[in-house]
Amino acid sequence: MSSSLLTPNVLCGLMLAYALTVLCTPDCTPRKSVPYESSHFKVFRKEGIWNYSSMLMREDLGLLIVGAREAIYALDIKNISFVQAEVRWQVTQAKQDECTYKGKHPDIDCRNYIRTLHQISEDVMYVCGTNAFNPICDTLVYADGQLKLEGKQEEGKGKCPFDPSQRYSSVVVDGDLYSATVLNFLGSEPVILRSSQTVLRTESSWLNEPNFVYMDVVPESMDSPEGDDDKIYIFFSENAVEYDFYNKLIVSRVAQVCKGDRGGQRTLQRRWTSFLKASLECPVSGNILPFVVQDVFQVRDSNWRNSVFYAIFTSQSASNYKSSAVCAYSVLDINEVFSHGKYKTPVTVEASHVKWIMYTGDPPVPRPGACINNAARDSKIQSSLDLPDKTLQFIRDRPLMDDIVKPLTGEPLLVRRGISFTRIVVDCAVALDGKRYPVMFIGTDNGFVQKAVNYNGEMHIIEELQLFKSPEAISVLRLSSSTFQLFAGTASGVVQIPLADCSRYSSCLDCVLARDPYCAWDLRARHCTTFSSQMKDVDFLQSLKEGNASRCPDPVPVMPKNRTLVLGNNVKLPCQQDSSLAQVNWQFDEKPLNPSSKKYSIYNDGLVIYNASASDAGRYTCESVEHVVSRQYHRTLAVYELRLVSDEGDKDRILVGIVTKKPHTSTAVPNVYPGSPQHLNTESSWVAMKVALAVVSVMMAALLMWNLYMGHLQLQMCCRQQHKLPSHCDSATCALHQDTASNSTEPQAELYLSAKSNHRNGNNVGSLKYTMDESEI
Ligand SMILES: *[C@@H]1O[C@H](CO)[C@@H](O)[C@H](O)[C@H]1NC(C)=O
Ligand SMILES: *[C@@H]1O[C@H](CO)[C@@H](O)[C@H](O)[C@H]1NC(C)=O
Ligand SMILES: *[C@@H]1O[C@H](CO)[C@@H](O)[C@H](O)[C@H]1NC(C)=O
Ligand SMILES: *[C@@H]1O[C@H](CO)[C@@H](O)[C@H](O)[C@H]1NC(C)=O
Ligand SMILES: *[C@@H]1O[C@H](CO)[C@@H](O)[C@H](O)[C@H]1NC(C)=O
Repeated sequence: MSSSLLTPNVLCGLMLAYALTVLCTPDCTPRKSVPYESSHFKVFRKEGIWNYSSMLMREDLGLLIVGAREAIYALDIKNISFVQAEVRWQVTQAKQDECTYKGKHPDIDCRNYIRTLHQISEDVMYVCGTNAFNPICDTLVYADGQLKLEGKQEEGKGKCPFDPSQRYSSVVVDGDLYSATVLNFLGSEPVILRSSQTVLRTESSWLNEPNFVYMDVVPESMDSPEGDDDKIYIFFSENAVEYDFYNKLIVSRVAQVCKGDRGGQRTLQRRWTSFLKASLECPVSGNILPFVVQDVFQVRDSNWRNSVFYAIFTSQSASNYKSSAVCAYSVLDINEVFSHGKYKTPVTVEASHVKWIMYTGDPPVPRPGACINNAARDSKIQSSLDLPDKTLQFIRDRPLMDDIVKPLTGEPLLVRRGISFTRIVVDCAVALDGKRYPVMFIGTDNGFVQKAVNYNGEMHIIEELQLFKSPEAISVLRLSSSTFQLFAGTASGVVQIPLADCSRYSSCLDCVLARDPYCAWDLRARHCTTFSSQMKDVDFLQSLKEGNASRCPDPVPVMPKNRTLVLGNNVKLPCQQDSSLAQVNWQFDEKPLNPSSKKYSIYNDGLVIYNASASDAGRYTCESVEHVVSRQYHRTLAVYELRLVSDEGDKDRILVGIVTKKPHTSTAVPNVYPGSPQHLNTESSWVAMKVALAVVSVMMAALLMWNLYMGHLQLQMCCRQQHKLPSHCDSATCALHQDTASNSTEPQAELYLSAKSNHRNGNNVGSLKYTMDESEI
């Protein structure tokens, strides 16, 4: 079904095995934070339709099938704004009434949320919906540009959740649907089910209030010397039974079942004989409670032994402050725990209390929970139906392993504090060096996607992108490697973005230090470009692991910009950083500016000099220093020549402005040059204006201070904070502050206007008073 995903991913999954993990301390900051820009994204949302929660990639048809509330859409994979076909699937009034009668909300619960979408064959898809707490399934065909539900409604219990807000997972393997969800209305009967000729399910005692997040198949029968079977792995969290804990403790699990399982003959009839579960560990230092698995993605390799599961976890604690982590697990490590690990066994202590401890005896033969392999077949066990009762009874009572599945690198690949991860997909990027690098795309609960890589154990978040304007949780992420696209769904819509937008990197240094495996600097065309393997590497620059930008051509020197200084005013000198990892350094006349001085505020986007005086005139240089691996890259971003108004050039400019615009000179005054008689004649008005300028400046400065003191002080603090924590500050409030600051960016222009009108009116005081009153209102 997903043949495109099974294409060889040579070494991509394996690379991590060689990694030593060094966590970014104390936290990983994305190098770039890209705010919401609706114009740049391709968006799909339909008026009145919500909860775009399931997706099926049909690269063969060039379609993305999206399941929402009571509707299914076939969208053009190149541009999801373009709807190829749609079909509505609404609940009947009777079903809605029945659901409402049972105490559910008519408009929230008692609707049909499309949750399951699978491809069965080339033409046929399988789709299930919650159908007002009464799940049903149907087949869906796409033919002649139309989506059609065939109306062969099937029971959906155990295949699709009743409750639309409940997590669940399913996968189709060889035409059989494997699903992990609940069997009843109350949600109290969890099940891992195979809907096939022989329906198989779990015993209810095997699962303890689980929250299923993911399941997938691993073709372990391929080149297996033991004649092993394919496995389906199920990832979930559940209440722990193995710890003595004062409170409910949630642990993460991975479970297995064998594809060829047919259940037991007497014991475990129509139940899995191969169900085993183990704890999944993702140790985050400084946390006592284990993190809880939220989503998983399998990075497949042509040799299944090199396949890797990437899992995201979030902290479990009473506080709202969430942390998140990514851990990767080798399929081989999981296999090892199930096929050679020790079991846990329940022991009753103190009358009714049950403790789970390691089983120390010899387990029966064949090994409980193992798939039927060559050794079993040799002893006349052809299928699970032939398994002896001893083996089956053992596994019925002891499905939990004592051994724990540990992450590939021993530690998380990524930890972020204050953020909740919700979904993950991983793409393998072929880089300039010919190697494959796993690139993680992680959705968050506030509408962002984080794009991250791990180079030799060093975690690096290339960028975070705000895909949705409102902070809503990303509930589905899908990848199309062949079309180079990522799709994200939330309650309100679907957004499509390319896996990389290299044009965001404006310079060679920016492009190389981004360490984005999809992007390389084109030395000839002098721009950052999406790298493809056909390109000759002599013409391109990329340095992923080292972040070595020494081969970048010398940057074009930055031209100094002239700025006018007005005594007593605040001056803002803009300087846009292109990396959040870089440090801003300002220099004044070649000497480092003291950042702790009260005279200055250094922001992400510039420098503000308060109450400028004559001694502030001079050359200001804004430099970024980016620390990559063990090197520092310095870059001059902006240079300003700040000059006092009374400098010859500026004085003349203002003079020219005033004189030529004076109404009574409109008749015969030619161009005015310095030293001309007109210049001398206007000297007295120049002095008057200078006085006016000074008065206005002082008043404006006072007003600004007053404003800051009265109400905007907090905004300022927010932005100061933002300097350190760019993702936590509301950009709207910061923009507000920037407006306040930018009033002082070009003070000369504003003052020039009021000076002009004063000149015309000849009533300086009245005019100033008026201005002040207006500001005070
Ligand atoms: C995508 O399709 C929509 C609707 O057909 C169209 O308005 C939009 O311009 C397209 N966007 C791009 C980038 O092609
Ligand atoms: C469906 O969307 C609505 C509207 O955004 C949201 O309030 C609700 O939580 C969503 N329900 C589910 C089950 O995702
Ligand atoms: C960085 O790259 C340059 C040019 O390829 C090379 O000469 C230099 O040794 C590299 N530096 C490090 C520390 O690897
Ligand atoms: C800045 O002022 C200097 C001296 O007045 C002048 O030579 C230069 O051209 C000006 N630069 C710009 C960019 O206007
Ligand atoms: C601005 O600086 C001058 C001296 O340079 C000082 O006398 C004045 O009090 C300052 N004004 C404010 C508002 O800080």
